[in-house]
Amino acid sequence: MRNIYTVNAGRTALGLALAALGLKKGDTVLVPAYTCAAVVEAVILQGLTPRLVDVDPKSFNMAPDAIRAALGPSVKAIIPIHLFGRPCEMDQVMEIADSNGLYVVEDCAQSLGSRYNGRMTGTFGDASVFSFGIGKSMTTGEGGALAVNNQEFVDRVSLLHDILPVPGIAWRIHVARTILAAKTLPHELVYSMLSTLAEHETGRADMLLFAKCVALAQDPLGKSSSSYEPMKMPSYCARIGLGQLSIVESLNAKRVANAIYLLGRLSAFGTLLGLPEFPRKGTYNTFTRFPILPLRVARDTVVRRMRDSGVDAEIPYQHLRLLLESGLTAQAVCVNARSLSERLMTIPNHPLLDQSDLERVCNALVETVGQS
Ligand SMILES: Cc1ncc(COP(=O)(O)O)c(C=O)c1O
Repeated sequence: MRNIYTVNAGRTALGLALAALGLKKGDTVLVPAYTCAAVVEAVILQGLTPRLVDVDPKSFNMAPDAIRAALGPSVKAIIPIHLFGRPCEMDQVMEIADSNGLYVVEDCAQSLGSRYNGRMTGTFGDASVFSFGIGKSMTTGEGGALAVNNQEFVDRVSLLHDILPVPGIAWRIHVARTILAAKTLPHELVYSMLSTLAEHETGRADMLLFAKCVALAQDPLGKSSSSYEPMKMPSYCARIGLGQLSIVESLNAKRVANAIYLLGRLSAFGTLLGLPEFPRKGTYNTFTRFPILPLRVARDTVVRRMRDSGVDAEIPYQHLRLLLESGLTAQAVCVNARSLSERLMTIPNHPLLDQSDLERVCNALVETVGQS
């Protein structure tokens, strides 16, 4: 990867990549149905049509069979997302793309450092996008990057990147506030005071994004605008990013060690919990999130009880249901994505967690899912 362009967000990188492919208005791009709505938004904003593709119930990534079923003459590109750090089945994705003449834009927002059959995610497709938001493998407060692997697109991306504006004071203040919040929120006292507010804000942002996608999908030429403004990365974020890049492997290693510990500790509760797969040989899952499927107690109840006991469990993509019901899925039923949107939760996995934190998370989880 020699051509890397830094920008203010992962979605800016996605927009640049899609714009550089030179697709026609209305061309279709395959996107996993269980995902961050920012990806769907980026596709629609380029005048392209997202087609949601069902995911595999174990890996939570686009299922190769569902990709094959979603193919058609208007389909021109695929965006495989390596969700929660777990690499997609890239051999099959690339085989489908190659035999059908499709472009591949890998979404590595959650998988910086992950490997599939020994090879880094982000090195398979024509281009790959990264996000450096809070909670990603490394952060610049807000930020993203586009890596262009296919030389055919380098000149076009360079041109598009050149004309992006440099962020003004409003964006700089926004990023500074984000960094400040990320620094202060993890302190137990601050967190207990502000967690409800933080949760409310995340839910609100999530809801707005889905509502925007639905509005854009129903009226792509209407007045709905993007939820963000594409810009370059400010230099102070780049400086933070360089520092983070030098330690990202160790941050990933700590997350992986946490995940292996959680897998070992929770494997005895297989009748109560669905756990992520143990990484197979050659595959490096960075576990930027640790997903859990409660099997006996309703997911929302488990999350609520864990939060009440002070553990920051989360419901990923809270308003995904809205998107799945928006008509974008007319071509596919997306049974697995729908089921995951109702059942999946994540528990904390962060490089700063120590063994006693992990024990606390496990105890809270086991106690919660064991209650009926
Ligand atoms: C899978 C995925 N793709 C894209 C994005 C967009 O990245 P950003 O928030 O930096 O725009 C995110 C953000 O969380 C994401 O999780």
